[in-house]
Amino acid sequence: MRILVLGASGFVGSALHAHFAAHHEVVGTSRGGHGLTPVDLADADAVRALVGQGFDLVIHTAGVVDLGAAQRDPAAAFAANVAPMVPLLDAIGGAKLIYLSTDNVFDGTHDHYDETAARAPINVYGETKVAAEDLVLAHDRHLVVRLPLVYGRSPLSNKFLARYAASEIAARTDIVCNPLYLPALAPALEQLVDESGVVHIAGTETLSRYELMVRVRDRLAAPARIVATDRLSAVQDCPRPLRLVMRSNRHSLTGPDVDTALDDLCSNHH
Ligand SMILES: NC(=O)c1ccc[n+]([C@@H]2O[C@H](COP(=O)([O-])OP(=O)(O)OC[C@H]3O[C@@H](n4cnc5c(N)ncnc54)[C@H](OP(=O)(O)O)[C@@H]3O)[C@@H](O)[C@H]2O)c1
Repeated sequence: MRILVLGASGFVGSALHAHFAAHHEVVGTSRGGHGLTPVDLADADAVRALVGQGFDLVIHTAGVVDLGAAQRDPAAAFAANVAPMVPLLDAIGGAKLIYLSTDNVFDGTHDHYDETAARAPINVYGETKVAAEDLVLAHDRHLVVRLPLVYGRSPLSNKFLARYAASEIAARTDIVCNPLYLPALAPALEQLVDESGVVHIAGTETLSRYELMVRVRDRLAAPARIVATDRLSAVQDCPRPLRLVMRSNRHSLTGPDVDTALDDLCSNHH
């Protein structure tokens, strides 16, 4: 297959790029650097020209992912996350799109969410992802993949583990989800590539941000102190849904449990 990975310098995108490049012809993009194909999603003509180059599969992982940044500058978040969907979908021809979305399309007031659950974003980031999902889902054959917090090691952006370089890490005890181990994502996408509509891919265990950070810290034997915060004590940069437990009624792919994932993470630790 000829595959285009938009956002191949990112945390998720660089892992997908590395995985698929082992067996396919893959073009990966960034706004600059890493020897990737340079493209800025703000440049609609550049998006059209690139996407129109005859790919079989386009995996879109690029955009504004920082919830606080999206909340501070909604116009920039919509410009990065929604506007480029129009030239992308215009130019995609016969290719299949896999669009990565988020559990932040939900409000966090329900026990869990499957693919049929109603979306009700409570922050700007979630609003941009709902708008982009709608553009994707207006076409029958494309696939929206909603992810929870993703953790693990990534080839070009180690943003999850980089937090452990700090001496103190604030982590919420009142925000829970089913985090997904990053290396499980690409194999799951391979299994789901012929699906369309919406799929959720999340881990099996429900745990708080605090619990996850502590378990990773302990397993890495990192010196960082994890400081428990909650709705009242945390920096108020963005409204955050509290309980985002995603389930799937379409498949049973979850990746490893947290202990197995952390064994894997540490066995690859250099
Ligand atoms: N990480 C998670 O826990 C998580 C959870 C749920 C959903 N997701 C979804 O997964 C996807 C990837 O997230 P991530 O955490 O991997 O994000 P990330 O590490 O911040 O990577 C974002 C990527 O987007 C690119 N990008 C940003 N703005 C761009 C622009 N204007 N034009 C072109 N490229 C641009 C960046 O490339 P350059 O900076 O090199 O240009 C980078 O490759 C997103 O759709 C996100 O919503 C992630």
